[in-house]
This record gives sequence, structure tokens and C-alpha cells, in this order.
Amino acid sequence: MVTPGSTNTGALFLVGMEFELNCKLQTQNWSKRSLKTVTAFRKPKALYFFDKLLGDGLASTEREKWARQRKLANYAFHGESLKNMTPAVVASVETMLEKWKSKEGKEIEVFQEFRLLTSEVISRTAFGSSYLEGLMKLSVIAGRNILKAKIPIISKFWKSADEIESERIAKMIHDSVMRIVKKREERVVNGEADNFGRDFLGLLVNAYHEADQKNRLSIQDLVDECKTFYLAGQETVNSLLAWATLLLAIHTDWQDKARAEVIEVFGNQNPDSEGMAKLKTITMIINETLRLYPPISGVIREVGREVQLGKLVLPTHSEVDMRIIALHHDPDLWGDDVNLFKPERFEGIAKATKYNAAAFMPFGLGSRSCVGMSFAITEVKTALSMILQRYTVTVSPTYVHAPASRLTLKPQHGIQLLFHSLHNDA
Ligand code: HEM
Repeated sequence: MVTPGSTNTGALFLVGMEFELNCKLQTQNWSKRSLKTVTAFRKPKALYFFDKLLGDGLASTEREKWARQRKLANYAFHGESLKNMTPAVVASVETMLEKWKSKEGKEIEVFQEFRLLTSEVISRTAFGSSYLEGLMKLSVIAGRNILKAKIPIISKFWKSADEIESERIAKMIHDSVMRIVKKREERVVNGEADNFGRDFLGLLVNAYHEADQKNRLSIQDLVDECKTFYLAGQETVNSLLAWATLLLAIHTDWQDKARAEVIEVFGNQNPDSEGMAKLKTITMIINETLRLYPPISGVIREVGREVQLGKLVLPTHSEVDMRIIALHHDPDLWGDDVNLFKPERFEGIAKATKYNAAAFMPFGLGSRSCVGMSFAITEVKTALSMILQRYTVTVSPTYVHAPASRLTLKPQHGIQLLFHSLHNDA
């Protein structure tokens, strides 16, 4: 078993060869040093489809640019800004639930429903209700090509259908972001608004107009940041919300406990930011879902300079693939009941992880950990609360369990559930 700083680094697998020697170390026994030692371990250069999807946004960029963008994002997704987003999240969930009224007692495929919801939420909160056309399509293409590297000479003369399509969509997204930016600029020029907006996009447009050239954001950076946040904010929460709802549908005892808590905190009123911190049972359920089904199942780092990790010497440019999902399913860390859904483990995270911060890391670790964590948790708590206030949930007989890692951990055949109204007039 590994604890931070341990010398045991686990098994070595060669899972991919690229033109430069590029071996990946897949290990469940790894040291948290690798996510904290920024100089020795850095983000690798993105593969082609990933690059098209995220560009050089916060999740992939490095050094000064990363520090500047991270500061902006921290401001946009924490504290007061987060509180101000709750009404928009509630409104988006209400729209989804309104649609569900006609489907009561019938099967609902929730992965697809939550895909629309999470897309709507990130659009409304970060980009002021503008839907980024094309990004979903691009994420599907990237998902099926995720590990494919391009062969430098051949790819100059030949492009696959997916490459051609992803370039077309990338251009469409670029144009779509530019249209939104232009609209905001025009409102300021026409005197209809005195700023570019207080949401994340507003902050980005401000940085694009920054007088000091050193701190100014280029238009490409602005587009890349929109792509990064749209994708990071949509795909991950989609996954978490879908698995959490499935687990509640299976474990109806926990569903009842969660509903009782929601009714105690909010009654039948819509959730508000003050009540969020009081949802202890829901928090435990979310953590146990993140442990069993982490939306991001692993993170990759490139070795920046030769480094010793336990007994292994890792050469410069090798890649380390840290399997979050393996850590979360390690019986040495979690016990023999590791594969069971037991939210009670999380009565306190420190206790659950036996004071080993690297044992549970659905949002990563260290300086590059998730900037949208609080936003994601708030969104999921809001959606679960509003569903539980209205419905009991069970699993449809047509559901087939087939999780697969495609960018995020997805149910290959969707998640089919049955929703029964708790109120006759609902
Ligand atoms: C359940 C939801 C989420 C999960 C499980 C999750 C997970 C993660 C993980 C594991 C990382 C670290 C990646 C690495 O070390 O290479 C990360 C980074 C990141 N996440 Fe999330 N995320 C979630 C939601 C969000 C949301 C809602 C947003 C935006 C609104 C977001 C934006 C980002 C960004 C921009 C980074 C890169 C941070 C940096 O490099 O400084 N994430 N996330």
C-alpha cells in the first residue's frame, strides 16, 4: 500500500509507443509527490484531438500563462461568484423537471438528460446563456480517438474523416465564441452596458481588452479558455450526476435518507446557497459516487527531468499515468468492501482516507487540482435535491451496466431509470 512518500511504486505497463519513446507508467501505488512536484512532473503536450478540444486553455497550459488564467478562474468560480450562480442552476433544473412531468412512470435515460442540463448550466453561468455550438460533437470525436497520436509526416498529406470533421467543428466553435464576444463589445460601445459582464466570459473579455499588453489575453487564448471550461464543466458533472442518481435508484435506503435530509433543509422550496453546507448525507453520497465512478479516471504527467519515484528511475519525457480509479478501488486503502456503495465511509474524508490525501482524489491534487470543484458539487447537490423533492427513483429493467472511460467515465448504453411522482399534482 502506498502512503505519500512511500517507496512502493507498483507495476509498470507499456501501453503506448509514439515516435519519441513515450512509455506510460500505470500504477495504483504511486506517490502524491508526482502531482505536487511541478518542476519534475508537468502536463504533457496534448494529443491532436485533445488539442482541438481544449486548445491551450487552463487545463493544459503551463507557467506564467497558467498562473494568470488560474487567478481569473479562481475568482470566477468561488465565494460570492458561486453564490450568485445558484439561481441559474435552479432555473436550469426546473426546465428539465418541467419536461419530465410528461414522462412520469415511464423510462428516462438520465445520462442524456443530464448532458443537456449540464450544458445549459455551464452556458448560463459562465457564458451568460449562450450555447457553444459544436462542442458536444467535438467531445464525442475526441472521446473515440483519445489515445490516437498523429504520425508527423503522413498526417501532412492525409487526414482521417474525424480529423477533417474536428477541424471544421473547431472553426465553428471559434466563430461561435467570437459572435458572443462581439455582442458584449457592441453593448458597451452602444452604451447599453457599462461592462462586459460579471460572469467568467465577462472576465475573459475584460482581460482581452487589458491595457497592459503583458497581461492581455489573445483572442485564441480567450476561445481556448471558453472551450476548456465548457468541456470541463459539462462532461464531468454529467458523469457524476448520472452515476449518483443510478446509485440512489439502486440503494433506495440511501435515497430515503437523502430525501429526508433535503426536506428537512429546504422543505419543498428550491435549494439556496445557505442550505448547501447542511446537506451532510448528500455530501457523503456524492463522495462515495466519486470514489466508485470518478468522472476523470486518471491524470497524466510528463517527466520534466529524470526523477526517482520509489525504486524506479523515470527518464525525461516519459509519461506517468496516474489511475485515480485504481486508487479508489484499492482494497489495501479502502478494505475488502471496496466495491460496495457505502456512503457511511465518508462521515469524514480524513477518516475515510486514513489521513492519506492521495487515496481519494477525484478532483486531482496539488496546484493543478480542479478549479471547478465547488461549482460542480453545488450543481450536483442542487439537481439531486430538486429531483428527490419530487420523485422516487428506481432502475428500469432495460438498464445494462457498462461504464467506460471515454474522456470521462460514461455509461456505454446510457442509464435508464423510472421516476414516480411524490405529489399527485406534480
Ligand atoms: C465532478 C466534476 C469534476 C471532476 C471530477 C473534475 C476533475 C478534475 C481533475 C481530476 C482535474 C485535474 C487534472 C490534472 O491534474 O491533470 C481537474 C482540473 C480542472 N478542472 Fe475539473 N472536475 C470537475 C468539474 C469541473 C468544472 C465544473 C469545471 C469548470 C467550471 C472544471 C474545470 C477544471 C479546470 C479548468 C481544470 C484545470 C485546472 C488547472 O490545471 O489549473 N472542472 N478537474
